[in-house]
Amino acid sequence: MKRIYNDINLENRNSFGVVQYATTLVEFDTCEELKAIFEEMHPAKWYVLGAGNNTLFTKDYDGVLITPTCSKRTILEDDGENVCVRVEAAHDWDEFVAWSVESGLWGVENLSAIPSSVGAAPVQNIGAYGAEVKDAISVVEYFDTNKLEVVRLKCEECGFGYRESIFKHELRGVAIILAVEFNLHRTPSPNLGYGDVIKEVEARGGATLKNIREAICAIRGSKLPDPKELGNAGSFFKNPIVPKIVAERLLNEYPSMPCYAIANNDEVMKLAAGWLIDQSGLKGYREGHVGVHDRQALVLVNHGGATGGEVLHFAEFVCSVVRTKFGVEITPEVNIL
Ligand code: EPU
Repeated sequence: MKRIYNDINLENRNSFGVVQYATTLVEFDTCEELKAIFEEMHPAKWYVLGAGNNTLFTKDYDGVLITPTCSKRTILEDDGENVCVRVEAAHDWDEFVAWSVESGLWGVENLSAIPSSVGAAPVQNIGAYGAEVKDAISVVEYFDTNKLEVVRLKCEECGFGYRESIFKHELRGVAIILAVEFNLHRTPSPNLGYGDVIKEVEARGGATLKNIREAICAIRGSKLPDPKELGNAGSFFKNPIVPKIVAERLLNEYPSMPCYAIANNDEVMKLAAGWLIDQSGLKGYREGHVGVHDRQALVLVNHGGATGGEVLHFAEFVCSVVRTKFGVEITPEVNIL
């Protein structure tokens, strides 16, 4: 059923926990309801607010926030090895991962414990521990708000890259994701190459789906703050991709700097924004209600009572310190409204 709220406080609808208001927020269950919203309201300004894990409101929102509430999960095909599952947008991401692990299905286990809804996952191509959601996606189904019709995009049409997709560019302000289809499989394919994952998995007795999920939940839990306890949006910044010559200059000066090659592109390299912020002396640094997390410098936290504007101001300060020390520009991963 469609629900409309006016002058609604967004404090419990964004993981930063900032208090801002929206003029209107509409929840919808079905595509027909969504179509009716556009036919009846003709919203000139709108934004999809899923679980609010990657959005920072810096002021009250004077348009229409649109929140999907559809969350069914349906197995479309199962040939004994490959399983195709359709999951609706409002399904909690980690509940989907937990279900796939309990069902013996491989493909998303490395993405355990990422705070997200399923519908938001393709937008920024969520990724962690050597995996990205694009590797498990077969189709993204969205509502085209210009044509008022449902469109299905194959994975290869989604423009996926590091924290990138077509939904952040050509389809920004056009597409509202309704469901995602995933290809999972029963043959084990452990992906343990990233950081401490192999060590944590072996400590639990080897590479089973359950052990991988437990290991990743433990690693994340040890570094990343729980938004229910400390407002945050995960990584606030993207890891910057810089020309190789810049990376080499920095490696000369800082030989222990983490630096990663990018597949199919040997002209650029990816640096670790968390390391750059940490080495700038800002890990655990706090100004008023906002700070850099003390166990993972990539994460900005609301220590309680911060406004979105304060978070933004603090983020700009962090960028300027990194720019001055390293000559590298770091940019937000979070959507800033
Ligand atoms: N590092 C530091 N100090 C810090 C943080 C990191 O020195 O405070 C160093 C680490 O020691 C390591 C390197 O920086 O050498 C990279 O750190 P880490 O492996 O913790 O990962 P990350 O690059 O900081 C990315 C994702 C995370 C994801 C992890 C694990 C981005 C922007 N972030 O973080 O994603 O969980 O890898 O795969 O790509 C998120 O998107 O919200 C998120 C948490």
